[in-house]
Amino acid sequence: MENLICSGQVSSVDPKTHRVRVAVRGVNEWETFDLPVLTHGTKNPRVYHMPRVGEHVTCLFLPNGHEQGFVLGNFYTQTNLPGESDAEIWSAEFEDGTRFVHDGEGNVTALIPVGHLTVGVKKDILIESESEVTLNVESDITVTGGAAMTVKIADSITIEASSVTIKAPVKIEGNVTVDGDITATGDIVAGSISLQAHTHLYSPGPGGPTPTAPPQ
Ligand SMILES: [Fe+2]
Repeated sequence: MENLICSGQVSSVDPKTHRVRVAVRGVNEWETFDLPVLTHGTKNPRVYHMPRVGEHVTCLFLPNGHEQGFVLGNFYTQTNLPGESDAEIWSAEFEDGTRFVHDGEGNVTALIPVGHLTVGVKKDILIESESEVTLNVESDITVTGGAAMTVKIADSITIEASSVTIKAPVKIEGNVTVDGDITATGDIVAGSISLQAHTHLYSPGPGGPTPTAPPQ
């Protein structure tokens, strides 16, 4: 049986069955039946990657004819060169600019310039770093939690913002220093002395001190 292995270009795809047809060039150009495309897993995990129409692929046929066979994989050509030129790199690159890269030196890059990144996890997420963690966001940041939130920092915490609003009673276990005015719509109590209700003892003359009226 001749031509057990042929190369050609994908002419049509069937995404639901992970099969493609291939136009095989030769003395007589011909088109294969729908051929299953080999993948790295069909149960656990199920890996899905369809070749695109026009992509160069290699097909392997069973000895009894060209009716049954497989697409072994894709290959680059002189007119469709790989996007990398360093053999140490592993990368996957998409037309919209999304890139997943391991540079061979321990660095991993995931770039998603167009769409969303969704991470759904049933249990804990642990992020460990022996260096800095930086989060640069050009829009709002919202953290929604169903229970308590604890922030433990070995050094100081600095918050830079145009304003800070805390919608909850605040308890500070330590001294407070304010470089500026304090304005309160309610009373301020120091120890047991109310700023709004306290009085002073006043001794204008004989008869002993008498309390003044509260501050006006
Ligand atoms: Fe006073």
